Amino acid sequence: MYLIFIGPPGAGKGTQAKRICDHFSIVHLSTGVILRDEISKNSPIGKSAKTFIDVGQLVPDDVLLKKMSGRLAQNDCNNGYCLDGFPRTITQAKGLEQILTNLNQSLDAVVSIVADEEELINRLVLRGSTSGRTDDTPEIIRQRLRVYRRQTEPLIEFYEQQNLIKAVEGVGKITEITERILNTLV
Ligand code: AP5
Ligand code: MG
Repeated sequence: MYLIFIGPPGAGKGTQAKRICDHFSIVHLSTGVILRDEISKNSPIGKSAKTFIDVGQLVPDDVLLKKMSGRLAQNDCNNGYCLDGFPRTITQAKGLEQILTNLNQSLDAVVSIVADEEELINRLVLRGSTSGRTDDTPEIIRQRLRVYRRQTEPLIEFYEQQNLIKAVEGVGKITEITERILNTLV
């Protein structure tokens, strides 16, 4: 099962992608986690990524495409994966198409998690008190939401044209939302 999770900051992409991956025994690949891991290692990619993440901007497309083309070619991806937070721009989505063609993989669905802005801001401000994430401050959360609307939301139309979008209401109990997602995937 090859899946993409798309949704605004705080929608629950990470929370749900992990649960869906456990269900299907496939790999969870969050580009946010991958980039934060590079930052913690103080690698060249991490140093550059930090300058974008800390201000709520996207890390450049070429960095993500290079990283993910290597990652998706690894053996553990053969059975499938949940991509969480990638692709995030039309350029990344087109780059991913090329990667998938080269690897003989094809997408089964794009899960679009929907939640209203007030809910998202409340969740992330709450998480900010314990997460240690430098981008979980009210000002940067608002910036991330603006970037999502402008750069990532157009992907829903892009994947709608390929009939891949499964829209799921992301407010409610975590277990119920997982059920909703699984129901769209049968
Ligand atoms: P990333 O780490 O992907 O952050 P994000 O998209 O802003 O989303 P979050 O991880 O904050 O939210 P989520 O949707 O995963 O929700 P979660 O499950 O955590 O990216 C961070 C940055 O990295 C970007 O801004 C960018 O700079 C860079 N980056 C990453 N990918 C990139 C790419 N492809 N291209 C360029 N740059 C890239 O849940 C949120 C909170 O809500 C948690 O506290 C959770 O416990 C809680 N929660 C979850 N579900 C529920 C529920 N049902 N009810 C109540 N609370 C809930
Ligand atoms: Mg996340």
